Amino acid sequence: MNKEEKRDLMLEIKEEILQNSKLPLYKERKKNKVFPVIGEGSHSAKIMFIGEAPGKNEAATGRPFCGASGKFLDKLLAHAGIKRDDVYITNIVKDRPPANRDPFPDEIEAYAPYLDRQIDIIRPKIIATLGRFSMVYIMEKFGLEDRLDAISKIHGRSFEAKAPFGKIIITPLYHPAVAIYNPHAQEELKKDFLVLKKFAD
Ligand code: URA
Repeated sequence: MNKEEKRDLMLEIKEEILQNSKLPLYKERKKNKVFPVIGEGSHSAKIMFIGEAPGKNEAATGRPFCGASGKFLDKLLAHAGIKRDDVYITNIVKDRPPANRDPFPDEIEAYAPYLDRQIDIIRPKIIATLGRFSMVYIMEKFGLEDRLDAISKIHGRSFEAKAPFGKIIITPLYHPAVAIYNPHAQEELKKDFLVLKKFAD
């Protein structure tokens, strides 16, 4: 797939999300006059980060990880020598859940097909999940349900799986928001990010 084809497919996804009034958080988006967060970065990224759902700043701007957890994510990327422009960053749920509550299973189910299409467009070498919601979804999607465990046990590990486009590595990471007030998680995240370094362009 060339650059233009990838861009067009991503635009289709964006248009569908903007217009799909059946999405569980569509009404909430309209009521608050905010944006869905589709994703940002290189469409041919080797590293794809998948978070949970947009927060307040993200829904206000339409950009993923641009608030407090985004600042920490930027530090982690810099620590590992990875440029934000070279990776692709998105979430499972593309609209902000009210009051930043955890996403409901039906929300994950409704938005996940868009994420699946984004993965097939980008064809990353490695998916780094941020937090347990994307960890569970992605590990199950790639047939790694037997390897699922508490995030405190499996963060930073590399699980090999098969994608329709070839071999893929899944690496669960703590969510950067957890690390803001938790120095232990901060240190673990810093160490884990070094695993991603070898996939950097
Ligand atoms: N937390 C997430 O999971 N995603 C964002 O985009 C921002 C905060």
